[in-house]
Amino acid sequence: MLPGDPSQAISLQRRIRDGDLVIVYERHDNMKAVKVNEGGVLQNRFGVFKHSDWIGKPFGSKVFSHKKGFIYLLAPTPELWTLVLSHRTQILYLADISFVIMYMEIVPGCVVLECGTGSGSLTTSLARAVAPSGHVYTFDFHEQRAAYAREDFELTQLSSLVTVGVADIQGDGFPAKFLGTADSVFLDLPQPWLAIPSAGKMLKPDGILCSFSPCIEQVQHSCETLKSKFTDIRTFEVLLRTYEVKEARTEASCGDDGGFLRPLPCKRRPQSAGDHDADEVSSDSAVVVAKPAAEARGHTGYLTFARHQCL
Ligand SMILES: C[S@@+](CC[C@H](N)C(=O)[O-])C[C@H]1O[C@@H](n2cnc3c(N)ncnc32)[C@H](O)[C@@H]1O
Repeated sequence: MLPGDPSQAISLQRRIRDGDLVIVYERHDNMKAVKVNEGGVLQNRFGVFKHSDWIGKPFGSKVFSHKKGFIYLLAPTPELWTLVLSHRTQILYLADISFVIMYMEIVPGCVVLECGTGSGSLTTSLARAVAPSGHVYTFDFHEQRAAYAREDFELTQLSSLVTVGVADIQGDGFPAKFLGTADSVFLDLPQPWLAIPSAGKMLKPDGILCSFSPCIEQVQHSCETLKSKFTDIRTFEVLLRTYEVKEARTEASCGDDGGFLRPLPCKRRPQSAGDHDADEVSSDSAVVVAKPAAEARGHTGYLTFARHQCL
């Protein structure tokens, strides 16, 4: 996914090789990860696609089946991996992940401790953020989950950036060898307050802790625990609203679904280069309309951040 050598970082110029992981994209809500194999085929409703036709093509290519159906072959970025990975647990999604990476100030070279690993959704983005010289040490007490996560990091070529450990962090804390070494610690645990004292000891002075919890009662308990050794304690709920923006024919400036459909400033499309009325709102023409997508995700959880006090 993201080789340790930044000169090999994925770009649209990189060509697909035998053994690469690609994201087969049909639509934004229909993608899957496929490992390219010279003799392999992919069969879907658009026809049969031979992997051998993909090899040598740049990531991002549109490829055709024998029936002239098509798909896109995308590079397996953390953003896309989060959408196609197998869910062995609840996972963090793009909006929370982006906020976490930014607010925790995770940059190349950082050392990050994480618990629990879960399905590795967040870990994948953490790994890219610390690459090429940083490292993510992620822990889960569920051995099978940790093993699956290791397999995934092999598949996505992130294993040089991530170490998966098996440990009960709520019960025993993080391993002592990490004392004072972490730039940031991320917790996604049912009782994070039990792990917070240990997380504090692992952080460098001024390091940042983040805890993700689905329930506000967990947040309240965590914040009480954070008060003794942390400062700048802040909790956020990141709500994401996606929009469908498309061209539609309408009779009036409002939509046909009970006024819910709101036209953007409705400008008639220019018919020709010399159409000077293009800025006028049309009463019966093609307009670009936008409405919140029906399947928009609501509450995922609360993100509590705190900075380790320099004593
Ligand atoms: C919700 S999942 C984490 C999902 C992850 N953030 C992701 O984005 O894929 C929570 C994980 O914490 C692990 N866990 C729960 N209690 C734990 C403990 N005491 N020590 C270590 N891991 C624990 C669970 O096994 C589970 O895999």
